[in-house]
Amino acid sequence: MTSRADTVVALRASGVAFVLEITDPIPRILHWGTDLGELTESTASALALTAGPAQLNNSPDIPRAFSVLPTEYEGWSGTAAIAGNAGGRGTTPRPRLVRHDVTVPAHGAGGSITLEFEDAVSGIRTELRYRLDAHGVLAVDSSLVREAALSPRIGSTAYSLDGVLALMPLPERATEILDFTGKWCRERSPQRTPFGFGTHLRAAYRGKPGHDSPFLVATGTAGFGFGHGEIWAVHLAWSGDQRYLAERLTEGAGAFSSVLGAGEGLHSGEIILHDGDRYDAPTALFVWADNGLDGVTDRLHRRLRARPTHPRRPRPLVLNTWEAVYFDHDLERLTALIEKASEVGVERIVLDDGWFRGRREADAGLGDWYVDGDVWPQGLGPLADVVRSHGMQFGLWVEPEMINLDSDLARAHPDWVLGPAEGLGPESRNQHVLDIARPDAYAYLLERIDGLVAEHSIDYLKWDHNRDLLEAVARGDDGDRPSVHRQTLALYRLLDELRLRHPGLEIETCSGGGGRIDLGILDRTDRVWASDCNDPVERVQIERWTRTVVPPELIGSHLGAARSHTTARNTDLSFRLVTALTAHAGIEQDLTAVDEAELAVIAHWASLYREFRGLLHTGRVVNGDLADDATALTGIVAQDGSAALYTWSRFVTSSAGQSGRIRIPGLDPASAYDVVVREDLGRASRHQGDDPAWVTAAVAGPVRLSGSVLTQAGVPLPTLNPQQAMLIDVRRANA
Ligand code: DGJ
Repeated sequence: MTSRADTVVALRASGVAFVLEITDPIPRILHWGTDLGELTESTASALALTAGPAQLNNSPDIPRAFSVLPTEYEGWSGTAAIAGNAGGRGTTPRPRLVRHDVTVPAHGAGGSITLEFEDAVSGIRTELRYRLDAHGVLAVDSSLVREAALSPRIGSTAYSLDGVLALMPLPERATEILDFTGKWCRERSPQRTPFGFGTHLRAAYRGKPGHDSPFLVATGTAGFGFGHGEIWAVHLAWSGDQRYLAERLTEGAGAFSSVLGAGEGLHSGEIILHDGDRYDAPTALFVWADNGLDGVTDRLHRRLRARPTHPRRPRPLVLNTWEAVYFDHDLERLTALIEKASEVGVERIVLDDGWFRGRREADAGLGDWYVDGDVWPQGLGPLADVVRSHGMQFGLWVEPEMINLDSDLARAHPDWVLGPAEGLGPESRNQHVLDIARPDAYAYLLERIDGLVAEHSIDYLKWDHNRDLLEAVARGDDGDRPSVHRQTLALYRLLDELRLRHPGLEIETCSGGGGRIDLGILDRTDRVWASDCNDPVERVQIERWTRTVVPPELIGSHLGAARSHTTARNTDLSFRLVTALTAHAGIEQDLTAVDEAELAVIAHWASLYREFRGLLHTGRVVNGDLADDATALTGIVAQDGSAALYTWSRFVTSSAGQSGRIRIPGLDPASAYDVVVREDLGRASRHQGDDPAWVTAAVAGPVRLSGSVLTQAGVPLPTLNPQQAMLIDVRRANA
């Protein structure tokens, strides 16, 4: 008799286990969550024995199962993992396992399981791959190939794929859902709902994740927070259309209660598989943690930081010209700005929108990626020389996937514009989308951008994408075809090719601010522009949620003007500086309009950034779980626990007068710490008389506090005025 140990397989890493049973005709998931220890014969048997649910009244006579590719055949009435049809037939898939391959490299270091299925109903061969990395992140990939020979009854009729979802089962204690929404200048706005019956579906059909991207769908135990609760979360590493779902049927999901899943959002007819055609679904990343959202974040950050391509050199302080000069490009004016930037310690200049042909406003020129001869009679060379003469890097803004109808490119190639042959839909920000999946349009872009990078030895591209895709169809003689999938793959190819040709080139993903932030594009870019909003009140919140997935060294954060250009709110310099410090810092303010006293403070901030970036760009992100959402406590703690920097921010007043004892997360309760309140960037104004006594002392110099008091008992923090923030510098005593 086969022992369970032969058919039950487990991947284990970093406290996480994923356990499958290789059953016929289709494997079932026995467990995803906490590590159950070594997979002994008795654990394997117990898991397998308990994998069957009750057979309910008025239900299929065989208890419903929940497999790796759930189908109606197994009694699954929820959203299917694979949906499609071959001319209206082959709609009830019955994948049957034909091969499996398990690789477990070393004890507790993750591993992979590959499962291959043939489906005689749909004629689809599916390969499903699970890879658990050393940090406990489970990546799920699948590839589908149409094989006419598998389904003689359908023969070579093409299969129209409606959707592929990576699905994972959840236990009954996952009772709440957290995900994100947002808009321009308010990206990654969290929303929480109870996990009720039915389908919580988040679909993004904007040709990109969008400002309202679901971003990370986290389900968890009641009241889960940053530092507590058990969480099962998913992120789709894909920059096109997408679907996330959390689904709960009354009959459960096999022995589990509900389901979490994600996959590409496909338009009807977008993927038609003829005999031999293949579809690769984007990677879905599933993350489990039993120490709250910060635990999920830690796993994702470790995964990203372990990539060979992860930026490792110190992240240079940036000056981006956008809010300083907008379209007013002028060598003299920009030279003055660059000189001021150099004085304060900027290390990289990024020339934003407005440098190319015809681009005097946001209504013309997109597509004409040649330097504008009227504005730059001698090209960009003189500007690049000024930048380099100050020892700084030179970066340039581009928006390659877009086109203005008022451009030479659109005039020469009207058919390159993505949209129906019956006529283009309305413009958005005066622009349309270039069909970059066309080989000729792709070749043009590659030649142009490659040429610019080579000609000016460009170190950095800010890659923008300002509008949503609507009616994104490629025109053809026989009709128009949905093209978001192909457009997304063409973008990836373009980025990959540019990086191959220019190994030192860094690229920032921007999309009207933070409209295209996902781990698909971050495999090909080095920084995200989190938002166009430099107002620190908004920015603290946008960034702390962006950090749930993206580590601080990859998040751009800029000092803006006192009166925010996007919200018209006025804020103090100190608040703006503190907020921009704890990411990949930069400046967008017009430094030529800043007085000497302020410039000195900005220069000091730049030196503080250089002092702290080693910690900020490698440390563990933590967040306080606070009852008062008028405040936020965010921190970055060195991986060895020897140092940390916290930001205590207040947005508006609260009815509570005191903070109460606030727990400072992430420190070692058994160590002692020297704590300093850093007021080098200006003193945050207070909404109180005197500070708590320990804070008064910590402003003057280090105060030694035990880790147990800091992390467990908590400490009172000052009641700040609205729109203020304070930096708390913590070092392990005798570290
Ligand atoms: C939108 C971006 O988010 C801004 O930072 C800026 O680059 C503008 N586009 C330029 O058009």
